[in-house]
Amino acid sequence: MTTDTDALFAAARTVQLNAHARYSNYYVGAAILDETGHVHVGCNVENASFPETSCAEASAIGAMVSSGARKIVAIAIVGGMGDKANSALFESAGDLGACTPCGGCRQRILEFADESTRIMLIDDDGEVQVFSIEALLPAAFRVE
Ligand code: THU
Repeated sequence: MTTDTDALFAAARTVQLNAHARYSNYYVGAAILDETGHVHVGCNVENASFPETSCAEASAIGAMVSSGARKIVAIAIVGGMGDKANSALFESAGDLGACTPCGGCRQRILEFADESTRIMLIDDDGEVQVFSIEALLPAAFRVE
């Protein structure tokens, strides 16, 4: 992993601990490197009315856009099951594998991505996979 990659995953792991995931118990953290070199983080924020949940990627994109930045150079995403008794403890994600962005978040990432944007996932063994948005969302809906 490059230092950039290490730092982004470390930021994602840190914010993952803040996830409000009391319904699914699945804790997600996302960290975005923007075009100015700044990092923006977000976690999933669940709601008793389930459809009102925000994904971690949506939270991180909201933070990035709110700061004035407009380009996702790289995004690191981590996910895993929490321990209901202590949300700071994480079991191995086990056969859940790497947390890949949901369909809606792929569209959200697309809005601020280009062909060089790195979407970085990590599995239980620490194996990093890097995808382009084109690979994750082919034939995407665009207005331009
Ligand atoms: N989740 C994310 O935060 N990002 C994704 O891309 C996949 C799903 C969250 C939403 C919900 O709080 C929990 O993971 C289980 O679906």
